Amino acid sequence: MNKLLIQGGVRLDGEVRISGAKNAVLPIMAATLLAEGPTVVENVPHLLDVTTTVTLLTHLGASVTMDEKMGIEVDTATLNSQLAPYELVKTMRSSILVLGPLLTRYGKADVSLPGGCAIGSRPVNLHIKGLQEMGAEIEVKNGFIHARCDRLQGARLVMEMVTVTGTENLMMAAALAKGTTVLENSAREPEVVDLANCLIAMGAKITGAGTDTITIEGVDKLTGCRYRVVPDRIETGTFLVAAAITGGRVKLKNTDPRLLDAVLHKLTEAGAEITTGDNWVELNMHGRRPQAVNIRTAPYPAFPTDMQAQFMALNCVAEGAGTVVETIFENRFMHVQELQRMGADIEVQGHTAIVRGVEKLTAAPVMATDLRASASLVLAALAAEGETEVQRIYHIDRGYELIEEKLASLGARIRRVQA
Ligand code: EPU
Repeated sequence: MNKLLIQGGVRLDGEVRISGAKNAVLPIMAATLLAEGPTVVENVPHLLDVTTTVTLLTHLGASVTMDEKMGIEVDTATLNSQLAPYELVKTMRSSILVLGPLLTRYGKADVSLPGGCAIGSRPVNLHIKGLQEMGAEIEVKNGFIHARCDRLQGARLVMEMVTVTGTENLMMAAALAKGTTVLENSAREPEVVDLANCLIAMGAKITGAGTDTITIEGVDKLTGCRYRVVPDRIETGTFLVAAAITGGRVKLKNTDPRLLDAVLHKLTEAGAEITTGDNWVELNMHGRRPQAVNIRTAPYPAFPTDMQAQFMALNCVAEGAGTVVETIFENRFMHVQELQRMGADIEVQGHTAIVRGVEKLTAAPVMATDLRASASLVLAALAAEGETEVQRIYHIDRGYELIEEKLASLGARIRRVQA
């Protein structure tokens, strides 16, 4: 198993190009199942989760080809199975995103129920309930969701919680349903908007994506298109914190700062100078130590849960004390114990962590537990005294493209070794 060795204490400085968004490309690749004729997805990041999705699509019988610039073409003409097996779903929960497309297009889907997960229980009851309200017969048996339908019927669906992949699954199902579907209490995340735009490019009739009411008028068929995914706002935020935690400067290109309002606001509060353009953002700490900030995660456009762990790391070395409240997932503080092993002063009370900044973190062997927790350990290591060893980095490879190359290009002393 690979690990990362990071020698802390270097003030980062330079430019990085941001990749396509993981959480946009995964639903968009699932959406290719809806289209007749090939779909080409561009700006695809090179990630383990993308590879898993390609394996899943291939397993279903789709033909998938990749060009040298990470454009992925998916053709469903050869599709011959509607079964997403446990072996794939257990390694990547977002495999659940094939449920809506397979069911609505083929009238049949057998998708393994995703199991537990490091950050919380993460049920998919709202995905299932929505499809049932559209007329699907669904049985959950032997660890599988078995769904059947003639043609799904449009319906008014009121989701009792804001769910990102739930909204995406139901929006995809509704795209080929008969009649109009209204999704109330929809997730407003930019990745939901990106999926809607891709579906529209395929011929879907969707309005309201980006608001909490999405209306989908079902059509009889969708056709393949060429679509470029949005930049990754979480990768962007992570690199901004990397510069901030080391007192450094970074310019991130090929990104969209408008998707990061809450994060940029908190970084400014932490003492960073932020400048933005249409497709870039620059952060300069001017060598200053960050000020502690209070954050509370909530659905978009509020502060993203996917940036919580990284800001926790920032608070660990900040001046003053900050509280971090996690409201989305019940168990997303797995990084706390690892950060404590590096000398962080963190007290957890339920869903709140009180972080008192220390002058210096110190290197220690630490273990990645989930994707964003791993990112926070890498960030802490960049600011720590000595060489930190981050183990189990396959979590990081699920969601960050070339992280060590990108950090090294900013001056970080980071290398990957075989454990
Ligand atoms: N929930 C339910 N029932 C459901 C669905 C969700 O109770 O049927 C609950 C969840 O347990 C959670 C809350 O609703 O407490 C929100 O979960 P959501 O469904 O929005 O999460 P998700 O769709 O499974 C996506 C991202 C996550 C990100 C969350 C929140 C993808 C592929 N994943 O997950 O990304 O944290 O939204 O923004 O889009 C990551 O990239 O590291 C990551 C975990």
